[in-house]
Parts: sequence; C-alpha cells; structure tokens
Amino acid sequence: MQFTTAAALYEKAGGKRNGLPAWTYNNAELTELETEQVFLRNWIWVGHISDIPEAGDFQCIDLANERAIVIRGEAGEVRAFHNLCRHRGSRVVSQNKGHCDKAIVCPFHGWSYHFDGALKNIPRARSFPEIDKAKYGLKALDCEVWHGLIFVRFCGEGVSIAESFAEAEEEISLYNLTDMKTYDEPWRFDFDLDWKSVIDIDNEGYHVPVGHPQLFDLTGSSYKDQVLESGIARSYGSFENRQAKTPLIQNYISALPESNYLPESHRHLWIYWGLFPGIVITLFPDMIEVYQVYPTGYHKSVMAGACYALPDARAEMESARQYNREINMGVGEEDVQLVKWAAEGQRSSAFDQVLLSDLELGVCAFQNRLRELIPVVALDTAPETGSLKSANQKMIKIRNLTSAA
Ligand code: FES
Ligand SMILES: [Fe+2]
Repeated sequence: MQFTTAAALYEKAGGKRNGLPAWTYNNAELTELETEQVFLRNWIWVGHISDIPEAGDFQCIDLANERAIVIRGEAGEVRAFHNLCRHRGSRVVSQNKGHCDKAIVCPFHGWSYHFDGALKNIPRARSFPEIDKAKYGLKALDCEVWHGLIFVRFCGEGVSIAESFAEAEEEISLYNLTDMKTYDEPWRFDFDLDWKSVIDIDNEGYHVPVGHPQLFDLTGSSYKDQVLESGIARSYGSFENRQAKTPLIQNYISALPESNYLPESHRHLWIYWGLFPGIVITLFPDMIEVYQVYPTGYHKSVMAGACYALPDARAEMESARQYNREINMGVGEEDVQLVKWAAEGQRSSAFDQVLLSDLELGVCAFQNRLRELIPVVALDTAPETGSLKSANQKMIKIRNLTSAA
C-alpha cells in the first residue's frame, strides 16, 4: 500500500491548514451542487446480500430527489432501479425494506413489474392507447456487489467499486464478507446539519482519546489514521495485550474467542476503510460494520449503517459481539454530539477558521478531493446568491486552461 503524508496533503491544500470556510457548511446551493456532483456520481452503499436473501426481497435508499430500489431476482441476481413507477412516478414499493410476491406492484394504480424491471401488467390496460410494454420497464441503475456488499450509482460513469477499493481488497478478502449474515438491527442517525460536518468528525482519530474514552481504552495510542495515495483511507487500532481500565472494554477483550479464520495479525485489530465521499467499512475480528454518510437536503444528512457477521455458535463470540455493539453504539452517540457542536460552531458569527493538525490528515485529504471536484468551496466567502454554479463552472474552466498551458 502506498501511503501519503500529512505534509504532502497540506502542500496540496496550498499550505493551508484552515479547512473549509464556514459558509460551505451553510449554503443550500452548494448542497445541491455537492449532491449532483459528488453523491449522484459516486457509489452509494445500500446493504448486503444477506439483507435480501430471497427472490423478491428488496431494500431502498432515498438520496435528495432520487430514490433507488435494490431487488433480488429469480435467479439470485441483485439489480437496482429507480424507485419510480413509469405510470405516474409513484414509488413502486411503499416500504424501505420488504418482500414482493411474484411481482413489484405499484401501490398507486397497480402497475406491476417483474423482478428484472420489465413491465408485467397494467390494470384496465384497454383504457390506455396501445403501448410498447418494452419501453415501460423500471429504469435501471448501476449496481455492483463487492464482497457481498451492495452499491448503487445514480448517474455518471467511472471506476467500479472494486477498482475504487482495490487497495483494500487483500485485507477485506481475509474476512469472508460474502458469507456473512445481517447481525442486529440496522441503525440510522438523521442530522439537521450539513453532511460535511459529519464527515469531518469521522475522518480523523485525533478526537478519539478525549471524544471516545472507551474506544481509546480499547486501542490506546496504537490508533492511527492513514491516507493512501489513491485517496482511500485506512485507520486502525490494536488491543493485543491491552490492559483495559473500563469494565465494558475488559469484558469485550476477555469474551472475544480466537477468530481462527483470520491470520494472527488481524485477531486483535479494529480497522476502518473509508472511501470518498462517505462510505466506511469497519473490520472487527468478531464482525463487520458498514455505514454511509449522505445529504438528503439542505442541512439534512444521514449516517446509516448495519453489522454483518459469520455464523458462529460459540457463546463467547455472541457475548463479544454484544459488547462490541455496546461500545460502538456509545461511540456513535458521542460522535452525534460532537458533530452537532461542530455544526453549531460553523453557524456562529464568532467562527473564524479551523486549524488542522498532522493527525487530522484525513480531513485534509477529504477536503482536497472536494476542492478538486467543486473548486468554489475554496473561496473565503460564498458567491452571490444564485451564482454558485456559474462561479464554480468558471473556476473549473480557468483551472483547465491553466493546467493545459
Ligand atoms: S403511479 Fe404507479 S400505477 Fe400509477
Ligand atoms: Fe468519532
């Protein structure tokens, strides 16, 4: 793996360590542009194949104005479509997760679709002029299953999720994600703040010793953040021979049986792989946790995830998994509070700018990538209302001209 350094990342940021200006966290036009340019063009994690084991099982995700349904086909294939009826645009399923019997039946007037998206039946079809059924199937979305994890992409082209995560492939392969099953209920936090406030907190481990005392008790100062040349991030902490102080952490360490399916090097590690803009895959020796951060509107964002584990009948493993959930739910609640305080700060008249340390290189890497995609975020003040997109376009043009010269 080729790692980059804090020095290289800050150099790319023009030598500045002051992060993104406060206006970028409080601007509806920018949220719209970020949704369009960043989220709709990149892969979004939806779930795992064990969430939809049978033909007709489905799971949905809404992102801004877009809605996706991922559904298991008759032969076991996983496909994704816009969750949009071709009759009048209703959702074709009313729930976020569920099962369709024989067909997907729109809850509005009952148009039905096969699991491969083809239009199956129109109630009272003679009331319509003759239509070519082949033209009225559900609209397909890019869908990729990688190590059992399901991703969709709303629009745009580019590298596959497997290519994006290529440097994580070797390590993730150790965990046999494909054979894992859903563990525990999925979780979700809804925030009334900008999605970047959530990402910024999540992109650095500098806050772990103070912000997450129990997590710190598990890993101590072994916790490290790494950013790879390719832009993906890896963080890890080890609890090998760790003498923990808090009962919950002691319980987890002592309950955890040998995870024999892993090499010894990975039996006492917690590892976090992060992919721009908001996917995190966490590898524990007892299970995995995956989550995604994304905007759902102006000052509206979501952090949603789920855990998956290999079948393991050992009672100690079940105890360790329960302790793990307790630790991580605590970490989640602590992060929710930290995110809210950071976002409040970004709205305060006294907020000036931040000062990033070398330990916050993940924040810098993320913001560098955002500045590349949406250069307008580098401006100290917001463009005039109504002109953000054109100001951004202008900056891209100038950058292209300069780099061509
Ligand atoms: S909108 Fe779906 S059947 Fe009418
Ligand atoms: Fe955190």
